[in-house]
Amino acid sequence: MENPFKYGTIVDADYFTDRIDEVKYISQFVNSANHLILISPRRFGKSSVVAKAVKQSGRKSITINLQQVTSVADFSAKLLREFFKVHPMERMRHLISHFRIIPTISTNPLTGSIDVGFQPGVDGSVLLEDVMELIEKGHSEEDRIIVVLDEFQEILDLAPRLDKKMRAIMQEQKHINYILLGSQESMMTEIFERKKSPFYHFGEMMRLNKLPRDIFHDFLSDRLKNCFKTSSDELADYILDYTNNHPYYSQQLAATIWNIGTLQPETEDVFHAAIEHIVTTHGHDYERLWMNINRTSKWILQRLAKKGVLQTGEYPTSTIYSALKRLQKDGYVIYSDSYEIEDPFFKEWILKGV
Ligand SMILES: Nc1ncnc2c1ncn2[C@@H]1O[C@H](COP(=O)(O)OP(=O)(O)OP(=O)(O)O)[C@@H](O)[C@H]1O
Ligand SMILES: [Mg+2]
Repeated sequence: MENPFKYGTIVDADYFTDRIDEVKYISQFVNSANHLILISPRRFGKSSVVAKAVKQSGRKSITINLQQVTSVADFSAKLLREFFKVHPMERMRHLISHFRIIPTISTNPLTGSIDVGFQPGVDGSVLLEDVMELIEKGHSEEDRIIVVLDEFQEILDLAPRLDKKMRAIMQEQKHINYILLGSQESMMTEIFERKKSPFYHFGEMMRLNKLPRDIFHDFLSDRLKNCFKTSSDELADYILDYTNNHPYYSQQLAATIWNIGTLQPETEDVFHAAIEHIVTTHGHDYERLWMNINRTSKWILQRLAKKGVLQTGEYPTSTIYSALKRLQKDGYVIYSDSYEIEDPFFKEWILKGV
């Protein structure tokens, strides 16, 4: 039997639960002339919910993860390659002839996949402009394409003033719905909410929360049924208490519990065995991570792990505040109702050391 839980990649079908209202909300956007910006802490399910809504819309779409892009030229090549996945190249030939820099396009005869390249050293922003124009021209107001740019905050690092250039192009376009996703809360708000930013108020800002407890509980419990002596309802509660409802970590813990329970059914306390297994597996990563943060940050993480208060007089409030912001920016700490350590297994590892 296959593990009924999945974590780390985009989930769909049996691995996906709820998000009904969110999918509706996103669909309504792609059916209007507006753009959408979706923000949440890491691994809350942004990519999955957007993929679902886009698929349901039945519209043509292109998705690029900017974290996997190495330069503006590479970004242009990836956009063009994705564009050719939804449009036969033959029909676009006349539009490409207007390109100021002609790409080399080759088809892999075995897989049928298309590869796009540009000469090294070309001006990336010229390419990007041409490719973005091609996408616009290949569509109409009745047949808009959806362009999803995941980890959008990366454009700030890709090239100087790229945000300004892109915005200038995007504001002229009428045949594209953009969905811009990002996980680094502070950078994303910087891009879309700072008055001087070129993307200021570019679209509607949507924040994705964790999954509702009762629905996620039933999702976990259903899939853990008939596996263990411990009741699956109880296990689901343990999991969600432990991860504080976090979508990714709950699926990770459930998958590990399921594995141990299936492979070693004699395990006494499968819940704690699973936690121990995950913490041990990631021990090296946690150590490396710990070595690379400063003393104030270590102190904060230890206090948060023990649910202690941060205002103790041990460090000045301003020092704590800036370290906390940094930890949040780097994704170690998230804020939902209060500040918490993002990874419950890292928290467990920290607690072992204090
Ligand atoms: N609707 C859902 N139902 C069940 N599990 C989910 C759901 N959404 C997300 N998850 C869990 O969270 C994991 C991360 O989801 P996803 O990659 O969509 O999140 P993300 O916010 O895009 O993450 P990242 O910050 O890494 O880009 C999934 O692999 C899955 O385990
Ligand atoms: Mg994602």
